[in-house]
Amino acid sequence: MAIDSLRDWIRVLDEAGELIRVRVEVDPHLEIAEITDRVSKERGSANKALLFENVKGSALPVLINAFGSRRRCALSLGVERIEEHAERLRELLDQSPPEGLLDKIRMIPKLAEIGAFFPKKVSSAPCQEVVWEGDAVDLRKLPVLTTWPQDAGPFVTFPLCVTQDPENGRRNLGTYRLQVFSRNETGFHTHLHKDARRHLGKAAARGEKVPVAVVIGADPATCFASVIPAPPDVDELIIAGFLRRKPVPLVKCRTIPLEVPATAEIVLEGWVDPSALRREGPFGDHTGFYSLADDYPVLRVECITMRRDAIYHTTLVGRPPQEDCWMTEGIERLLLPVLQKALPEIIDYRMPFEGVAHNLMLVKIRKQYPGQAQKVMSGLWGLGQAMFTKVIVVVDEDVDIHDDSEVAWKVLNHIDPQRDLQFMMGPVETLDHASRAACFGSKVGVDATRKWKEEGFTRDWPDEIVMDEATRAKVASRWREYGLGS
Ligand SMILES: Cc1cc2nc3c(=O)[nH]c(=O)nc-3n(C[C@H](O)[C@H](O)[C@H](O)COP(=O)(O)O)c2cc1C
Repeated sequence: MAIDSLRDWIRVLDEAGELIRVRVEVDPHLEIAEITDRVSKERGSANKALLFENVKGSALPVLINAFGSRRRCALSLGVERIEEHAERLRELLDQSPPEGLLDKIRMIPKLAEIGAFFPKKVSSAPCQEVVWEGDAVDLRKLPVLTTWPQDAGPFVTFPLCVTQDPENGRRNLGTYRLQVFSRNETGFHTHLHKDARRHLGKAAARGEKVPVAVVIGADPATCFASVIPAPPDVDELIIAGFLRRKPVPLVKCRTIPLEVPATAEIVLEGWVDPSALRREGPFGDHTGFYSLADDYPVLRVECITMRRDAIYHTTLVGRPPQEDCWMTEGIERLLLPVLQKALPEIIDYRMPFEGVAHNLMLVKIRKQYPGQAQKVMSGLWGLGQAMFTKVIVVVDEDVDIHDDSEVAWKVLNHIDPQRDLQFMMGPVETLDHASRAACFGSKVGVDATRKWKEEGFTRDWPDEIVMDEATRAKVASRWREYGLGS
């Protein structure tokens, strides 16, 4: 069942025992972050979504950590396990053209399902129940959190930013943080390689400003879609429709030529002048370090619309594990079929939490020809946001990449560092503070597969030590006899 709004999601979380309401007054300056950091680092049942109902200085409650576990991520997308959506995606990608009439008839329900992915327009919307325009616009009335002591100020950390390509009109939805500068100005922190940044670049070349709508608090599939690294010109609202199995209802903004999800909690409408930059940051980021201050364009907010009893949705990033780790894991599971379409030898992959998405990817392949590990690395470094991956480790199909101990043991045993580490220069994640230049540096691929004679390896490759079955069965059956416990 699709969840239609943030408040419906809160209800789902509540019913599933996944939400704690905090009723005492809390400070949006650091205090909420410290509480959330403690709760989100819990691995067991103490890790819950938090709804702060009494936030100092604002009438709005704050929802945080709502995606902060595997279960909550799946719940948010209406499934038991995200892999269910991955299988739907695989089916869609594997669809072959119908051959006869019967095939065509069989496709009708599929086509109807695909039709539901596309957003639909509605004329009125709860997200416009309250309107602040002109002098009434005041971002400081929202409970925007300051999360870490060296942060340059309060930041909106889970905005869904809608922009449009000024040339072809294609829509994009992306989550790019907003530092609140004043009652009606924020930073617009879209990194160099992101879609909205491309839109800004095109608008700058035409001497135009860019309309931007920022949605704060939407149905969870739309929130999730906003951080998915979809290819340029793919509308994330269609992805949201796929995940919801139901169109996202869209309403026209009041002051800018864009549309936003009608059931949103809060919408900022404004303009970005790509040529006017301002210092943004530092900000305690999801690497666990402060991202450095840098110059970014400014979003000038001309109108704020919201629900009558709006809820402010946010997230905390910092040293992992945090909420974003679970979202990254969800995206990783969802996109496996897409990766496999481009690189069919990939059996599985994983981005461990400590690698903060872009620093480490473990890739398990079915090696069928010499040099295939290198081919996979090159393929990944050429594929969307996987290009940022600082360390790619490629292993054979007998390695359990979900077991860190096994990965470390086998990888370290299987490499000759000088031969098996391959360095590559290229674009790196903006948040990488160690690269020699901002957004540019080196990456390394580690070929930890068995080496073949066709790859110049002429020695014998030893077998892994495994006890024979007969001895294992004998010891198992005599275990009590040895006096070693049950
Ligand atoms: C909580 C959170 C905050 C993020 N903040 C930023 C940000 O400030 N700037 C940015 O470029 N990407 C940020 N990202 C990553 C983008 O949302 C992500 O790369 C997304 O795919 C970008 O969308 P796009 O491909 O449509 O540009 C953030 C992700 C999360 C989960």
